[in-house]
Amino acid sequence: MKIHRLSEQLASQIAAGEVVERPSSVVKELVENAIDAGATTINIDVRHGGRESIQIADNGQGIAAEDVETAFLRHATSKLQTIDDLNAIRTLGFRGEALAAIAAVSQLTIVSRAEGADAGTRLVLEAGLVVNRETVGAPQGTVIALENLFYNVPARLILLTTAATE
Ligand SMILES: Nc1ncnc2c1ncn2[C@@H]1O[C@H](COP(=O)(O)OP(=O)(O)O)[C@@H](O)[C@H]1O
Ligand SMILES: [Mg+2]
Repeated sequence: MKIHRLSEQLASQIAAGEVVERPSSVVKELVENAIDAGATTINIDVRHGGRESIQIADNGQGIAAEDVETAFLRHATSKLQTIDDLNAIRTLGFRGEALAAIAAVSQLTIVSRAEGADAGTRLVLEAGLVVNRETVGAPQGTVIALENLFYNVPARLILLTTAATE
């Protein structure tokens, strides 16, 4: 068969399987991000074992308006720049994969206002693609809400068990 390169979107959806296996991995990744952002309060709302929706709200440092889209690119991180930084890492994440992976397999909305900024940014993504962006009023910090996890990856959806187990 002919060899061809996968599209960036499909490659992301496949890679997402390694980062996000089930709803609990989404919660883990988003809570780690909130802790890395210096949050002192983190609210977690999970519907139907996370299959219906997951929302994580924090009062951390937030994401600057010009960085919100970048945060969802694969291998995009603010926590690592050079190979030497690996020895000094003090954060829970640094691979820059979680947000890209989670967004690739869900319908996701982020509202974030950075420390010191006068407005927040609201970004809506579907299967990892930005479908809407607006400037909004928001408290300092970040709210990430996602619905229909794995809606576009039937092979993963089948592997999820009951809401209680998830
Ligand atoms: N809750 C959050 N508050 C502030 N910044 C965040 C938050 N979540 C993600 N970010 C930013 O988005 C970047 C990408 O996040 P992620 O994909 O989880 O990669 P990583 O945590 O490995 O850097 C982070 O490096 C950070 O700069
Ligand atoms: Mg992370």
